[in-house]
Amino acid sequence: YPVESIRNFSIIAHVDHGKSTLADRLLEITGAISKTDHNKQVLDKLQVERERGITVKAQSASLFYNHEGINYLLNLIDTPGHVDFSYEVSRSLSACQGVILVVDANEGIQAQTVANFYLAFEAQLSIIPVINKIDLKNADPERVEKQIEKLFDIPRDECIRISAKQGTNVEKVLQYVIEKIPPPQCNTADPLKALVFDSTFDHYRGVIANIALFGGEIAKGQKIVSAHTKKRYEVNEVGILTPNEQPTHKLYAGQVGYLIAGMKEVTEAQIGDTLFLYKQPVEPLPGFKSAKPMVFAGMYPIDQTEYNNLKSALERLTLNDSSVTVHRDSSLALGAGWRLGFLGLLHMEVFNQRLEQEYNMSVILTAPTVPYKAVLSSAKLKKEYGKDEITIINPAQFPDKLSVSEYLEPTVLGTIVTPHEYIGKIITLCQDRRAVQKDMLYIDENRVMLKYLFPLNEIVVDFYDALKSLSSGYASFDYEDAGYQSADLIKMDILVNGNPVEELATIIHRDKAYAAGKLLCERLKETIPRQLFEIAIQAAIGKKIIARETLKAYRKNVVAKCYGGDITRRMKLLKRQAEGKRLMRKIGNVEVPRDAFIRVLKRE
Ligand code: GTP
Repeated sequence: YPVESIRNFSIIAHVDHGKSTLADRLLEITGAISKTDHNKQVLDKLQVERERGITVKAQSASLFYNHEGINYLLNLIDTPGHVDFSYEVSRSLSACQGVILVVDANEGIQAQTVANFYLAFEAQLSIIPVINKIDLKNADPERVEKQIEKLFDIPRDECIRISAKQGTNVEKVLQYVIEKIPPPQCNTADPLKALVFDSTFDHYRGVIANIALFGGEIAKGQKIVSAHTKKRYEVNEVGILTPNEQPTHKLYAGQVGYLIAGMKEVTEAQIGDTLFLYKQPVEPLPGFKSAKPMVFAGMYPIDQTEYNNLKSALERLTLNDSSVTVHRDSSLALGAGWRLGFLGLLHMEVFNQRLEQEYNMSVILTAPTVPYKAVLSSAKLKKEYGKDEITIINPAQFPDKLSVSEYLEPTVLGTIVTPHEYIGKIITLCQDRRAVQKDMLYIDENRVMLKYLFPLNEIVVDFYDALKSLSSGYASFDYEDAGYQSADLIKMDILVNGNPVEELATIIHRDKAYAAGKLLCERLKETIPRQLFEIAIQAAIGKKIIARETLKAYRKNVVAKCYGGDITRRMKLLKRQAEGKRLMRKIGNVEVPRDAFIRVLKRE
């Protein structure tokens, strides 16, 4: 395929607007998959993705398409839609020259439509607006076209109206891809220059790197060098994704594909790295800004003998998801473990679920915290730390007020798109979360876009759920980093019979401590099963108790009902009891469910 007949593109959209369905249709039209029901959302490979019906990890597929007598190679890179994964979106875009922007004909422009549009716009990509789900009874494509024109300055006649579900006009999307997206600007005659834009770990074959060739060609047997590590490798296999790996003889400039080159160590295939031929060095590509974790939590093995297994599972999974940061950590109560950084709470849950499903690992996770900062008060401390301010990602390391002249908290600029009837409630919610309004714009007669500056910790856990429920699901939300601001912070401990629950220690704004402490105690009371003795659940700031709940004693005898009769039933119940225990953690003499904090913080 000459470079002129290659197109590299991505589909971007708000969650559920139909990009996976459109991708499936494109794969069908080009013959990459057959038209059966088993093939729904073939690009969502991970088990968590199928279960949750969301795309977490971007996947690629090469499509072959004949248009007006010319054979084209169209490389489609699927991207996730949830706000936590916008890092994956910008990474995918770096391998593209254009995007299909999908907007639901019924819901119209949503918060992530806005965010994704700007990612593509700032990367100077060609944008093809597609209005999907025109088959729906309430579809109003004309209104959506007006929104697109008003907000993105794209003439309304450039939009394509489609139904990805029924296949209406999908062929036209492929034609637009060929006509409106430019081919990649590169040359096979140049020396090899390959961008690693993603990588996965295969238990048998080692690291599989997804690469985009910005110059030259690559084939099995060639010697390559990583610009990042300077290590040398011999290429074992190259190929394209259709969407399954299909080995090819070579990959050429402009193409997107995969490479296996005996990289065994997880650190060897750095995302954003440039690969070149041995003895033919090139100027490395700019690479990527590393993902910025927004939420930190401690992770510990339930049983310390599992430490090494968990360590290798973490190493492999973080190769697959390089946006997770890992630092070694340890705690008196929980033993040796790690402090992990995630892009958001959903990201953290998905990561945890993947550890369980793909690596069979059960872990203890601590309450999430955002990266706070403390400005050190004295010259002596500054000298001791070698810097003026320190970042606090662990409540256990919250520095004393005396050594700090000012605490700082991270903020984000949030975008909310909502039908106007919910504005009042949403404004109240935002004020309640200490947010400051920055903008308010009508995108049509009854839809409003609001911009607020939020303290990050106020939106990390349950803001999105609250917003959804007070707007009957109609408001959408996305956010971007907006730097730090001064804040009155304290550390709050939760005590169970006087013993601190390390997983639940939190750094919190002083004004919020009383209400939050009370709520945490109440919810923890519901989460801890009654035991043979009375349990006091308290919230404390230093030595001062600010809230208390009492859990009454209770005796539960699971085998009493069996009259000593049926031995198999008795064994079954005892086994279930023992399994339940494995999921418990002892705090003093009290047994607390291992996942207490997620349940406590999330209110199920
Ligand atoms: P994420 O991967 O979670 O970001 O979602 P997505 O944007 O990939 O959306 P997906 O393709 O999973 O579609 C979401 C829902 O919309 C599914 O239930 C689809 O069946 C439905 N859907 C997609 N396209 C159409 C369409 O053209 N018409 C109708 N009626 N429904 C559609």
